[in-house]
Amino acid sequence: MMRHSDSSVIAAGGVNWAVHWRELVERRRVVIEGLATQGPQSDFWDQRAGRYARRVQSLDPKTDPLTQMLLGLVRPGDTVLDVGAGTGRYAIPLAAVVSEVTAVEPAEAMRAQLEQALGVKRPKNVDVVASNWEAAEVAPHDVVICSNVLYPIADAVSFITKLDAHARRTVAIIIRVDQMAAMIDPMWHAIWGRGCPPEPGLLDLYNLVFALGFRANVRLAHRANAQRFTDLDDALRQAHNQLFLPMEQTDHDERIRAYLAETLLPRDGELESPFTPQYALIWWEKDG
Ligand SMILES: C[S@@+](CC[C@H](N)C(=O)[O-])C[C@H]1O[C@@H](n2cnc3c(N)ncnc32)[C@H](O)[C@@H]1O
Repeated sequence: MMRHSDSSVIAAGGVNWAVHWRELVERRRVVIEGLATQGPQSDFWDQRAGRYARRVQSLDPKTDPLTQMLLGLVRPGDTVLDVGAGTGRYAIPLAAVVSEVTAVEPAEAMRAQLEQALGVKRPKNVDVVASNWEAAEVAPHDVVICSNVLYPIADAVSFITKLDAHARRTVAIIIRVDQMAAMIDPMWHAIWGRGCPPEPGLLDLYNLVFALGFRANVRLAHRANAQRFTDLDDALRQAHNQLFLPMEQTDHDERIRAYLAETLLPRDGELESPFTPQYALIWWEKDG
């Protein structure tokens, strides 16, 4: 397997994309850990699993463009490895059409949601591995997918080269084109006196994988449905999450509520975000 260190990953123009990626991740981590003494976000996904599962369940895999794109990359006899499978958004619809899916997922609460989504009639062809990707020991699969996982991974080079090393045919990565915090950014300024530090996105990833030698295809898609909230209290709780503002810290709530009330759109008795962020599917074939 080809190995790259940060210092060797330099693309045209002299930019070291591995260092650039690491700096984005580290800058964001340092800012977030310093906010209201948040500290390390090691249980980030355990705190958010329930909400995440509800959001995933509101998507219909038959119309969700990203699910459909992934389904277009697999063949009936394939084995698929889903790295950071979360609540099974892609692992479950893929399992219905391929021969075997291995879902690697480190967060216990996300795995619990995945098991619940798999249900009592659990398909026999889904294997769940409780591990982060860095430590996971799994066999190569025909197709390796990794959706919305890379944002906090500082050593993206090792992570991605391990994805590639475990793919017999195709590697497919989903990443945001727009920043997750786009809607709430004015509140970052109001409360923290600065914008939300950017996460790595499509352009950072494309440049990095290109520098690693992978000539990737890209397709963009909007989220199938805009983010919805049952009411203003629900939106406020989510805003706390995106602002990394502890729930018990309520001194900014009036201002956040006012902002949400004027920004969110009423839809079918709920509130909807006016932003429908774009995502990208980046994929490459091993013989391509
Ligand atoms: C935004 S969720 C995405 C879940 C799913 N792939 C999807 O697209 O719906 C990110 C997931 O990545 C997992 N994750 C975080 N760090 C990881 C790592 N180092 N290795 C593997 N998975 C990781 C989290 O536990 C979480 O379930």
